[in-house]
Amino acid sequence: MQSEYGGASSYVIEGDEGLWDLCVVRGTSTSSTGSTGGTHGLHNTKVEGGLHKVGLRSIVKLDKSNSPSPVVAEDGSSQADVGKKRKHQTGSHENLFKRSLAEVTLPYEGIEERRDEYRLGDLPYKSDGLEPHIDCATVEVHYNGHHTAYTKKMNAALSQWRDDQEISKQEKRLAEESILEILRNIKDVPEKYRKAIQNNGGGFVNHNIYWSVLAPNPTGEERRPRDDLLDDIEDVFGRYEDFVGYFTEKAMTLFGSGYVWLSRQADDSRLVISSTSNQDSVLSDGLNPILVIDLWEHAYYLKHQNRRAQHISDWWRLLDWERVSGLDAWWDDITEATHDEHVHSDF
Ligand SMILES: [Fe+2]
Repeated sequence: MQSEYGGASSYVIEGDEGLWDLCVVRGTSTSSTGSTGGTHGLHNTKVEGGLHKVGLRSIVKLDKSNSPSPVVAEDGSSQADVGKKRKHQTGSHENLFKRSLAEVTLPYEGIEERRDEYRLGDLPYKSDGLEPHIDCATVEVHYNGHHTAYTKKMNAALSQWRDDQEISKQEKRLAEESILEILRNIKDVPEKYRKAIQNNGGGFVNHNIYWSVLAPNPTGEERRPRDDLLDDIEDVFGRYEDFVGYFTEKAMTLFGSGYVWLSRQADDSRLVISSTSNQDSVLSDGLNPILVIDLWEHAYYLKHQNRRAQHISDWWRLLDWERVSGLDAWWDDITEATHDEHVHSDF
């Protein structure tokens, strides 16, 4: 099995111990000292006109949970999560049919449920699916390294909190809620667990949302919001181009590591651009996020070093407004479900 985006290829091979994903980069250079960057064990092969450079960027063992299911539509377009209700969804029958063929569960789905242990959600594309804008090696390190670590540490903190014999029932009450509710009420987390939950619960959910609103766009074609969301954006920010400018400015001027978000205020659904530092969650600010950019250098340093502007530019190309609208509708769904639960519990 092979897929190609730009100069990288991903091969899934079956060995004695299961499936392995090999991400390989290729390129031609006229310099014997040139580098394609971000590779391990780069090999040079002489070809006419220069050197054909082949390198192994990453090798990852796959298990059943992240086996490379065909999540990219045949035409290379992004896939949407049609399993959810989409109140605002419009589009041709053809597009809806394509999406139904590529139904996926997005990483943020499940954060609204109380779980003994949260599982790292599958990426809705392969590791090299965001090439050439975000390289395969960065996705591997970001997802398998950073995101995995936040998930494990969050689960450990939740487990310790729930099993703690030295705190009261009242102090454990919030621990029996979903990670979504816990982050919304971060000030009520007992002090001895608050920092661990804030950093690692935030890291878990923030990345879930970050991955979920991106989708392959190898040709870099322009994407714009659907009319209903575009109307809401224009009501608040003026022209769409002005919104892009405000958001980009916010991302460029964020000091240190953190995120910039577009969210809806929980009370009146008005759109707002805001930022959070470190792994703080925008959920703790009473907001329902619909898109986010990760501005930690780990999101781009393998490709762009410290050039944040290039990362932001690449991120705009990958932002999938269909998925943003899907997340926007998801907040309505879970809010309705929560409301229905409360209504039924009154009887
Ligand atoms: Fe990150």
